[in-house]
Amino acid sequence: MARLLADSLAETALPADALAEMEALNDEAAPLHIWLRTRANLPLQPAWHEAAQTPIPDPQPPGSVTGPAAPLRVLPHIWKWRDIEPYLHRIAEIAPLEFTDRQQFLLTNPGLGGALKVTNTIRIAVSIYKSGDFAPQHLHSPNASRTILSDAGGYTLIEGEKCIAGRGDLILTPAGTWHGHGNDGAEPVIWMDVLDWPLLEHLDVIWIRHDHAERGDNAEPPVEDYSQKLYGAGGMVPRFVPESRASGQGGTPMFHFKGGNVGETLSGLRDQQGSPWDGIIIEFVNPMNGASLFPVLTYKAQLLRPAEETQPFRHTASTVYTVLEGRGVTEVNGRRLEWEKNDIFVVPANMWRRHVNLAGDADAVLYSLSDEPLLKAIGQYRAQGRPDDSDVIEITG
Ligand SMILES: [Fe+2]
Repeated sequence: MARLLADSLAETALPADALAEMEALNDEAAPLHIWLRTRANLPLQPAWHEAAQTPIPDPQPPGSVTGPAAPLRVLPHIWKWRDIEPYLHRIAEIAPLEFTDRQQFLLTNPGLGGALKVTNTIRIAVSIYKSGDFAPQHLHSPNASRTILSDAGGYTLIEGEKCIAGRGDLILTPAGTWHGHGNDGAEPVIWMDVLDWPLLEHLDVIWIRHDHAERGDNAEPPVEDYSQKLYGAGGMVPRFVPESRASGQGGTPMFHFKGGNVGETLSGLRDQQGSPWDGIIIEFVNPMNGASLFPVLTYKAQLLRPAEETQPFRHTASTVYTVLEGRGVTEVNGRRLEWEKNDIFVVPANMWRRHVNLAGDADAVLYSLSDEPLLKAIGQYRAQGRPDDSDVIEITG
């Protein structure tokens, strides 16, 4: 547990009885490789331009160098929704939002020693917002997204746009966008949060700002469907607005992709041959330039038709999948990860994987995200396939 309480977490402000209850729940949930949030992210991490005001930490004491150690390795793993979901509702009752930043648990990879990450670039959390909840607007250096798992309820405010959540929606908060979350519906909203936090933490560029209220930026009422109006027509983009809506670089100006549109697009392509490695697969892109939604992460959605089996594939990127519909199995270097609705699983870099839709009469829909853009940017992206389990072929482009 000690590793979990990383430098980037604040000392807890939970009341003692609630903290004790949460820690007991954490002990119970530990075998599931989740960590129930009992602490906020450090609220006083300064923005990068204020970093010079922070004291220089003491050096490590002499003798602390331990020499090369066996590296921790990302393992394939599946988080079963039926096992982890009950904890969301339990922590929502115990730990009030104002003490912990979020009512959520974070997924921990069983190969990474309890660190708050599922790969070395990706952090995943699952959050719940009850009716009336509101998490104030803030801005941070990591890119983040929400994949909506509940049917409805809840919203994210981003740079003046109110993105009302529906199942299957993808809501993006690129680096350097002011954003807050809330729920003014009757039912709780549940979503999966994704952040490129571990990479940025490794690079020492994590920072958060909480001074939105002081800035007085709330004068205008939020607008709805701005993303759809400006960027929702495929192949046609506005030329009267800046290409970015963020102070960070490389993030998409389209903040909201709707689940209904994703499903329609996949269904409309179902008679195409598709990819031997992925079936019918689409990539979400920055509509202004066709690039990935974030410089580090790209997002995709795929349809596996009834009984469809894909061919073995591997690449140097790590991938996290969320099951939106159906049931099936993904074999990862021979390990079978059997999945169904809302399960989340990770396929580490370099490992062979193939998907099978186990249902003979129903589609399966998977959403995925990977650090492929990062690997390409540093010249380390490679991919291979093994058609019909025969010789390995190099995949380019
Ligand atoms: Fe945030």
